[in-house]
Amino acid sequence: MTSRTAQIIDGKALADKIQSQLVGRIQELQAKIGRPPGLAVLMVGDNPASAAYVSGKEKACTKVGIASFGKHFPTETTQAELAQEIESLNQDERVDGILIQLPLPPHLDAQALLYQIHPDKDADGLHPVNLGRLVRGEPGLRSCTPAGVMQLLAEYQIPIQGQQAVVVGRSILVGKPIALMLLAADATVTIAHSRSQDLPAITRTADILIAAVGKPQFITAEMVKPGAVVIDVGINRITTAEGKSRLVGDVDFESVKNIAQFITPVPKGVGPMTVSILLENTVWSYAQKGMKKS
Ligand SMILES: NC(=O)c1ccc[n+]([C@@H]2O[C@H](COP(=O)([O-])OP(=O)(O)OC[C@H]3O[C@@H](n4cnc5c(N)ncnc54)[C@H](OP(=O)(O)O)[C@@H]3O)[C@@H](O)[C@H]2O)c1
Repeated sequence: MTSRTAQIIDGKALADKIQSQLVGRIQELQAKIGRPPGLAVLMVGDNPASAAYVSGKEKACTKVGIASFGKHFPTETTQAELAQEIESLNQDERVDGILIQLPLPPHLDAQALLYQIHPDKDADGLHPVNLGRLVRGEPGLRSCTPAGVMQLLAEYQIPIQGQQAVVVGRSILVGKPIALMLLAADATVTIAHSRSQDLPAITRTADILIAAVGKPQFITAEMVKPGAVVIDVGINRITTAEGKSRLVGDVDFESVKNIAQFITPVPKGVGPMTVSILLENTVWSYAQKGMKKS
């Protein structure tokens, strides 16, 4: 077997490109709609990782011209208070997207709150109405990380139609929507999970292998077909032998890059795409309203 090094899929570059394109699109729409698009990110408690994600999202909003209506609630906030806030954001004409930053403190029912967001303001694409639209192949808000993966494949002109795609992971957040999106793009899709038997035999059938497992460096070179496209959705923090903390994906990048044709790195692969798609979703909802107006 000849040794090769995979082409690195640069998620950061595409995410930046999407954000620059949004600047022009927002200016164009704003002239028609008469106000900027608005996104409300709701955060409860003081989880430092969540705070960093929320601040990243708000900075990205400012950069492209989206108004932020986010609120930070104390940990002891009740379900009723949050429900009331969502209701008022549902009614607020200036708000096109609403997002609840997860995880929430354990006394709160995240799913009930998510269901309360108006489907047309569901910037994360996780409301059952939007998941239903995805299943039916109808236009609608799509979940951000899976939509980001699809845009990366498109940017690198990776053929999907008729290809064998294997998605490892079946979460409602990542695995299931990605599988549905690949199916909609005419791939032959297999979904593997923790009860799948002989996982390496399954993953080795993949022309396109998506890892959404949440286990550091879980996919090794032996599990990958030579020449496959490997998309690593995982984000895991590990401590190295030198005692340093670093982010790694679900794929053992160093070994797999020698066998794959394309590979996403972690960081700067799928991760940066998620925020750009969130902004795109907000602008999509905003544009829908603009169309209703004209
Ligand atoms: N890039 C981004 O912006 C972004 C966004 C979201 C998530 N992520 C990352 O993506 C990863 C997955 O996230 P998630 O929310 O989908 O995680 P999750 O809800 O924990 O789901 C993990 C999935 O992996 C499967 N799995 C676990 N162990 C397995 C094994 N040994 N063999 C095969 N499958 C196995 C599970 O199977 P069962 O269903 O059988 O339990 C489950 O379906 C995490 O690292 C997360 O941090 C990244």
